[in-house]
Amino acid sequence: METLLQVRDLRTHFFTLAGVVRAVDGVSFDLAPGETLGLVGESGCGKSVTALSIMRILPEPAGRIVGGSIRFRDRELTTLPEKAMEKIRGEKIAMVYQEPMTALNPAFTIGDQLGEVFRFHQGLERRQALERAADLLQQVGIPSPKTRVRDYPHQLSGGMRQRAVIAMAMACNPEILIADEPVTALDVTIQAQILDLILNLRSRLGMSLILISHDLGVVANMVERVIVMYAGRMVESAGVEEIFRFPLHPYTRGLFQSIPRIGRRVENLPEIPGSVPNLLNLPAGCKFANRCPEVMDRCRREEPPLFRAGEDHESRCWLNEGGMSCRGDS
Ligand SMILES: Nc1ncnc2c1ncn2[C@@H]1O[C@H](COP(=O)(O)OP(=O)(O)O)[C@@H](O)[C@H]1O
Ligand code: SF4
Ligand SMILES: [Mg+2]
Repeated sequence: METLLQVRDLRTHFFTLAGVVRAVDGVSFDLAPGETLGLVGESGCGKSVTALSIMRILPEPAGRIVGGSIRFRDRELTTLPEKAMEKIRGEKIAMVYQEPMTALNPAFTIGDQLGEVFRFHQGLERRQALERAADLLQQVGIPSPKTRVRDYPHQLSGGMRQRAVIAMAMACNPEILIADEPVTALDVTIQAQILDLILNLRSRLGMSLILISHDLGVVANMVERVIVMYAGRMVESAGVEEIFRFPLHPYTRGLFQSIPRIGRRVENLPEIPGSVPNLLNLPAGCKFANRCPEVMDRCRREEPPLFRAGEDHESRCWLNEGGMSCRGDS
């Protein structure tokens, strides 16, 4: 299978006064053209930092890629000069954030901001750029786009703002869209509409999608393959049907138990007891050991590598040791 994006043993750390935060510590995956991939895990496990590393928009100098590689087609992004990276960002790989105002400037109209993308990447004049902007707003389901281009971000509702940000991300027809918790900040009543919009655009334009969410339920309906992250590491990865039918890692099983289902009251959902370990001071051994219902003595001493548990299924748990250990890096 052709690979569009290849991430290998990515390590991104933050150098803070309190010490080194190993936010992403050995993440590897491949993304094929048109493929949809979900990154899941509780808050703080390194999902956004993985995305910011691919886009090369880390808050430097504190945050730095310290190891591994990110290849987009035949180019190595970790060492690409910033000028060349500017062409990839937006044109080839675009990103939608949790909070739409992160991507919008409150001082400029929607039309000017969207038009700016066409002017910067495609050299269009202002009037042409504004026309293209209105076209795009229409495509993402914003009513009366010709009027809306003159609105400032605060004049739009949260859902409409996120639609405008999605339009900006789509402006250059990117090959990869990274959507980082795209509906978490929105009213529940419009979350499904925005997710539908992303899926529709993806199938219409044929781009690859990396969908990041803390909610396994959201990811399940949107992607073909799932990577579960914990404490900066991948702990399980598999096709979406496989991971739903045979979740192997105790952490993944815990996440499944906290997905709302029909007939189960939301307030009765079991949460995984305990909390994510402090990344500044990680325990030896398995990073999930302090919360794992199946913990064994060995788990506290030795960190498990990723074990191959099926053709396209990996799990970082000693319980899956029967399989072959994959990748020397882990
Ligand atoms: N600017 C920063 N400075 C220091 N640590 C950071 C910074 N941004 C993120 N981190 C740390 O990196 C870890 C992963 O963060 P993040 O990728 O944002 O998690 P999430 O999975 O919720 O998206 C967190 O534990 C956080 O403390
Ligand atoms: S390695 Fe041990 S502690 Fe870690 S998830 Fe597996 S059983 Fe639980
Ligand atoms: Mg995040």
